[in-house]
Amino acid sequence: MAPSRVGSPATETELRGGSDPSHMIVSGSASQSFSAALAAATGRNLATVEFERFPDGELNASVPDFDARDAVVVAATVSSDAHLELLQLQDAVREAGASEVTTVLPYMGYARQDEAFDAGEPVSSRAVARAISTGTDRVLTVNPHEEAVCDFFTVPAESVDAAPRLADPLPADLTDPLFLSPDEGAISLAATVRDAYGDGDTDHFVKERDYDTGTVTVEPSDAAVQGRDVVLVDDIVATGSTMSESIAHLHDRGVGRVFVTCVHPLLAGNARTKLARAGVAAVHGTDTIERPASSVSAAPAVAERL
Ligand code: R5P
Repeated sequence: MAPSRVGSPATETELRGGSDPSHMIVSGSASQSFSAALAAATGRNLATVEFERFPDGELNASVPDFDARDAVVVAATVSSDAHLELLQLQDAVREAGASEVTTVLPYMGYARQDEAFDAGEPVSSRAVARAISTGTDRVLTVNPHEEAVCDFFTVPAESVDAAPRLADPLPADLTDPLFLSPDEGAISLAATVRDAYGDGDTDHFVKERDYDTGTVTVEPSDAAVQGRDVVLVDDIVATGSTMSESIAHLHDRGVGRVFVTCVHPLLAGNARTKLARAGVAAVHGTDTIERPASSVSAAPAVAERL
């Protein structure tokens, strides 16, 4: 017997009229703004989604009015619950008759655990990718931490680059701008944002993280920053340690304004305060993770690939 349900649906997106009734967009609870932007960009309907929780804590995500041929299930997997919700929504649309399911992961959780770092550890991103693959025909994910995670899915999976949009909220009057990544791995993102901005140099710092203590140390490059405006660019800001260390180095060297941009503004715990205390002028991210800093949408970039 099913356990009794508590309360009314926690969240519900409204059915909206789009011009393409054969497709419906189905939003996970953490991706409602992104999904609305995707519906607007594609002319597809947004399905009603109801989220309930049973007294034992189990989730139940459902699509009571789903009636399309194809489903686009959108879920930033920012938590264990969000992963579960995604698996349920994939299953629910199949139950409701969807013949093709595309899964959009605006932010793919666990993507940074892309290898077994110590004996006995799982390759967590492979484990979640395999689970997600069972309920879909195709996966799109936005700027995964490493492109190689796409290979962990057992269905076709591609990444979408939303980084060019990070130039949009930057002031037009940056002084002799330098687009700087905190490590070499993100230098191509810095170049992408610079190219989209249309002016400036690129450089990178060298970062080391002590995984036992969580401490981040950043080794500055010898780029001249005195009086220049610097745009720091990374894929994710999580605890804010990487960026706040970088900002501190820049201020020590007489920088002008410092802007932080990232695709995924995870901003966990006191990260935003850390950046403010370090002296950031503004923080800009996309809506792959919905936060106050999500000043640009990655949905148009995804819409082009649907
Ligand atoms: C790691 O290599 C990523 O690109 C980011 O630099 C990292 O996730 C940022 O983490 P945090 O904000 O905790 O320093």
